[in-house]
Amino acid sequence: MNHRYTKVTVQVPASTANIGPGFDAIGLAIDLWNQATFELNEEGHHVQADGENAEEVPKDESNYILQSFLDLYRYLGEEQPQGVRLRCINRVPFASGMGSSTAALLSGLLGANALLGSPLDKFDLLNLATSMEGHPDNVSPALFGGLAMGAIKDDGSVLLHQIPISIMPILIVLPDVALLTEESRAILPEFIPRKDAIFNHSRTPFLIEALRSGNLSLLAEATRDRLHQPYRLPLIPGSREALVRAREAGALAVTLSGAGPGLFVFPGENRQGIAKAMIAAFADAGISARAFHLASSNQGASVSPLM
Ligand code: HSE
Repeated sequence: MNHRYTKVTVQVPASTANIGPGFDAIGLAIDLWNQATFELNEEGHHVQADGENAEEVPKDESNYILQSFLDLYRYLGEEQPQGVRLRCINRVPFASGMGSSTAALLSGLLGANALLGSPLDKFDLLNLATSMEGHPDNVSPALFGGLAMGAIKDDGSVLLHQIPISIMPILIVLPDVALLTEESRAILPEFIPRKDAIFNHSRTPFLIEALRSGNLSLLAEATRDRLHQPYRLPLIPGSREALVRAREAGALAVTLSGAGPGLFVFPGENRQGIAKAMIAAFADAGISARAFHLASSNQGASVSPLM
C-alpha cells in the first residue's frame, strides 16, 4: 500500500459521448476541467463550490462528489472518514451532455482512492465507474484522455482502446433546456430495426479512422446516427434547425453531445459564424443558448497529493 495522504486535488476533464454512431461506446475528452480538493478532518463534512452551477451544488452529504468519495470507502471495506472538507471548482455545466456527472463520479472515486493509498489502479477505477454509470463512453475518455472506446465484457470489465488524436477545435452549443440523462435514455426504444443497427455500425469505423488519421472529410457522414438522435432531438426545441444551420455555416460535423441537450460540433473554419447560426436557430424556437469554444484533450484525469 502506498503512502496515505490527508489532502489531495483531483482534476477531471469534460467529455462528449457517442460522437454520432458510437452510442454508449465512444467518447472524446474535452479540455475543460473540474477540480476537487479533498482534505480529511475530524469535524464532519463540509462542501464549498465555485464556478458553473455553484449555487445548485448540494453542500451536504447528498453532494454527488462526496457520495462517490464515501462509496469508494464502502466498496473497499474501509472505515468511513469522520469528516471531509471538499472544495470544488466546477467548469463543466450540469446536465449539458458534457460529462458533468461522470466528472463528479470520478472526482470522488479518484480522491478517495488517493487518500487510501491508491489501492486501485486506473483500470480498476474504469471498471468500477463504468459499473456505476452503466456505460464506458464518458468514463473512458475522462480517465484516459483522447478518443476512447470501451466495450463491456461478460465479466463486467471494460475492454478499452484509447487513441491520442491531433488536438481538434470543438464547439458545444448548449441550449437552456432541462434534460436529464435518465429522461433522455428513457425515451429510447428497447429494440431497433436491423437497418438502423447497420446504419450505425457501418459508420463507426469511419468515425474512428477520421479522428485517428485526421481525414476530416469523412466526418460528416461518419457522425450520422439512427440509434438515439432521432428520438432525442424532439425533446430539444430548435435542435434540428440548429444542426441544419451549423452544416450550412460550414461545420465539418455536428451531433448531439452525449445524451444532450448540448450539441457537439467539429467546426473547422468559421466557428464563430457556426455558433452564431446555431444560437439564432435556438432563439427562433424561443430558447436561449450559450456557445463553448473548446478543444479536445489527450490528457485524462489527474491526481495531485498535497502534503
Ligand atoms: N451514451 C450515453 C447516452 C452518454 O447517450 O445516453 C450520456 O450518459
